[in-house]
Amino acid sequence: MTHRPDDALTPVFDRAGEATRRPRDRFPRTPELPETAYQIVHDEMMLDGNARMNLATFVGTWMDEHADRLYADAYDKNMIDKDEYPRTAEIERTCWRMLADLWHAPSVDGAAGTSTIGSSEACMLGGLALKRRWQHARRAAGTSTEKPNLVMSSAVQVCWEKFCNYWDVEARYVPVTDEHPVFDGHDLADYVDENTIGVVAILGVTYTGAYEPVASISRALDAIEQTTGLDIAIHVDGASGAMVAPFLRPELEWDFRLERVHSISTSGHKYGGVYPGVGWIVWRE
Ligand SMILES: Cc1ncc(COP(=O)(O)O)c(C=O)c1O
Repeated sequence: MTHRPDDALTPVFDRAGEATRRPRDRFPRTPELPETAYQIVHDEMMLDGNARMNLATFVGTWMDEHADRLYADAYDKNMIDKDEYPRTAEIERTCWRMLADLWHAPSVDGAAGTSTIGSSEACMLGGLALKRRWQHARRAAGTSTEKPNLVMSSAVQVCWEKFCNYWDVEARYVPVTDEHPVFDGHDLADYVDENTIGVVAILGVTYTGAYEPVASISRALDAIEQTTGLDIAIHVDGASGAMVAPFLRPELEWDFRLERVHSISTSGHKYGGVYPGVGWIVWRE
C-alpha cells in the first residue's frame, strides 16, 4: 500500500470488493470493509508516533490495566446525560467530592464541582463563575457591569487568554520579572479595581512548575480590602500542582484553607494519572 495523505485521491488496498483509490476529504460514495476503514485511520495515526515517548503534551500516557478496563467500561455511556446514567453521575460526584476534601473545603457537603474535558474547560467555568458573582454584586449595587477585568501573571496558560476573549473580560497581566519570577501579590493594588472579577493564582506554572504563593496573594488582597472595601476572590489554576502539592507539600496553604480561594481547577490527565481528557473544578460553596 502507498499512502500519501496529501493526495486528493489516496491509493488504498486492492483487496476484493474494495475500490483501489479512495477520495480524501470527500464523503465516500461506496461502502468499505471495516478492516480497511480501520487500517486507513490506524496507519494515519501511526504518523503521530508513540504517545508514551512524547514528553511534550503534558498528559497521562499510561494507566494500569484496571484503570484501562474502567475506561473501556464507560466508552458506550453518554455520561453528560445524567438522567440516563445516574450511577456514572454519582461516580463523577464522588470524585469531585474527594477533591473537595483533599483541598480542605470547609464542608464537602457545601461544596460544588464537576468534571470537565481538561483544565481549560475547568478554568472557563471558574472564570465564568467569578464574572457572574461580580455581575450580581454590581447589579445589586446599581453599578455598571460593562468593563470586567481579570488579574493574573503574564505566565498564565493560554486558556486564560481564551477565557478573556470568549467572555469579554479585560486581561490584566502582572509581568514576570527577575525580581518577581512568579506572581506573588506585589503591587497588586495597581492592577485591581472595582471591575476586577477575580485574581488567578497558578499552582504549577506551565513553563517552570513553580507554585505561585497563593497565601501571599491572598494577604495582598486582604490589605486591599481593608483600604478599598473590595472583596476580590481567587481562583487557583492547579492544572498540575493541585494533584501534587497535597501529597508532597501538605503543609503549604494554597487551597480552601485560604478563605479567599473560591474555586480550584486541575487536570486529571496531568498528575491525576489518567488519559486525556479529564479535568475538575471545585467551588468552596
Ligand atoms: C497552568 C495550566 N493551566 C491550564 C492548562 C490547560 O490544561 P488542559 O490541557 O488540561 O486543558 C495547563 C496545561 O498545560 C496548565 O499548565
